[in-house]
Amino acid sequence: MSALTVVTTPAAQIACDALILPLAADHKPLDPALARVVAAEDVAGRPDEAVVIASLGLLPAARLVLTGLGAGPVTPEEARRAAGAAVKALRGRGVSRIVIDTAGLPEHDADGFARVVQALVEGALSADYEFARYRTQEPGRARIAHLAIAVPAGRQVQAEPALRRAGAVADAVNAARDLCNEPPNRLTPAAFAARIEALGADPRLNVSVLGRAAMEELGMGALLAVAQGSRHEPRFVRADYRPAAAPNLDAPLVLVGKSVTFDTGGISLKPALDMERQKTDMGGGAAVFGALTAALALGLPLAVTGLFPIVENMPGGGATRPGDVVRTLSGRTVEILNTDAEGRLILADALHYARSLNPRAIIDLATLTGASSIVFGPVGIGLFASDLALAVAFQQAEATAGERVWPLPLWPEYRELLRSRIADLRNISTTIQQGSMMTAASFLRAFVGDEPWAHLDIYNTAWNEAEHPHLPKGPTASGTRLLAQFLIDEAQRAGAPA
Ligand code: BES
Ligand code: MN
Ligand code: ZN
Repeated sequence: MSALTVVTTPAAQIACDALILPLAADHKPLDPALARVVAAEDVAGRPDEAVVIASLGLLPAARLVLTGLGAGPVTPEEARRAAGAAVKALRGRGVSRIVIDTAGLPEHDADGFARVVQALVEGALSADYEFARYRTQEPGRARIAHLAIAVPAGRQVQAEPALRRAGAVADAVNAARDLCNEPPNRLTPAAFAARIEALGADPRLNVSVLGRAAMEELGMGALLAVAQGSRHEPRFVRADYRPAAAPNLDAPLVLVGKSVTFDTGGISLKPALDMERQKTDMGGGAAVFGALTAALALGLPLAVTGLFPIVENMPGGGATRPGDVVRTLSGRTVEILNTDAEGRLILADALHYARSLNPRAIIDLATLTGASSIVFGPVGIGLFASDLALAVAFQQAEATAGERVWPLPLWPEYRELLRSRIADLRNISTTIQQGSMMTAASFLRAFVGDEPWAHLDIYNTAWNEAEHPHLPKGPTASGTRLLAQFLIDEAQRAGAPA
């Protein structure tokens, strides 16, 4: 929550703790004072390298941070990485006031410039993230308190809203990371629900929370089956964002986030290695939470409903057994053959619920399959869509958000693999491991009917093993930037720029 400002004073004249200068090979001539310092260093480098130089009185800024952007056009993701690398290089130096200079960028049209400004600021704020809540001995380091971006006077009109978007998106990402970092004994289903309820303090967001009894009444048998091995009661949370001025208030975009606060696998228990990462199995819910905070911060003129099926998947004495048959909210029955395929069960009920909201589209995000990691490695999100326009919209959001998406098929043959002999469907395919991203998505599709729908499988990108320029190690808030950007783009398509 740093203070963000646009300035049109030449950056080389501004006093601050650090002046960040992302530098393209083909930049325009620099301010002479800057040019002298730059000339002393070679920064033909890559966008994830940064050089910190003490300015020793040559500039009013105490330090200059150079990051190379390479030759040719600069994409938002390159800008995000460059600013992220610069902030990372400044860590531990007690820097609180920074200025990012745009003088080293190549030529952009107005829209391209706005997207690069947004990305620079997002990258800086995202790299500044730290989760220090539970450390009592070594407190968190100082965070950036003031961030200014220096732009040519003629570009101020584009830079102001770009900066607001950047602040909203970075806050969304950092809020989602906070949720994903929370240990699973702290972020229980009730605690997650309470966090969403707290967002409802804003009058534009109406939050309602269902407990076990209310879910039993409705008939959410699939969600309840996943929850029944845990001492922690499940929650089903609905958050309706309805700004006063939105068109189509009665046809919301419905965002559904898988929210398993911890996934042991249940009776189909997972192996011990890396099991702690299953605390991020609520990453889909965290992304939806983040996207709602961005919609609120920007006052996006869209009707958006977030749905959060929140459970803990534990192998307690009351747990669901492989072989159990449950009745879903849709009335269809499911034979549960593997209790570790729980995400699709809770989503089945949430997606069916979504259909009752007259949705303009339904979008779900879920850390759904280990196979996403086999298919894509740690890069890129698998996208399944029943609607071409939605798929295109996510590919457009990718260009700004820098989170890659790639379409995968929903061929009817995959649905055939989910036939059960004793119920309407089985929760894992007869081929078990093979094609499991597609069979999982096909299972979900059976519960969305004909509604325009997109599903993002975010497991493989949810956790960073290696540190990235703007994404420290650990939970990444995968899908949050993409979803927030999708909403921003939707608002723009609706003719109301954010
Ligand atoms: N939350 C997991 C996804 C996951 C799997 C994360 C493996 C980390 C490692 C999901 O609920 C799950 O367990 N998926 C299973 C489904 C399988 C049993 C059909 C998977 O993909 O292995
Ligand atoms: Mn599982
Ligand atoms: Zn899971």
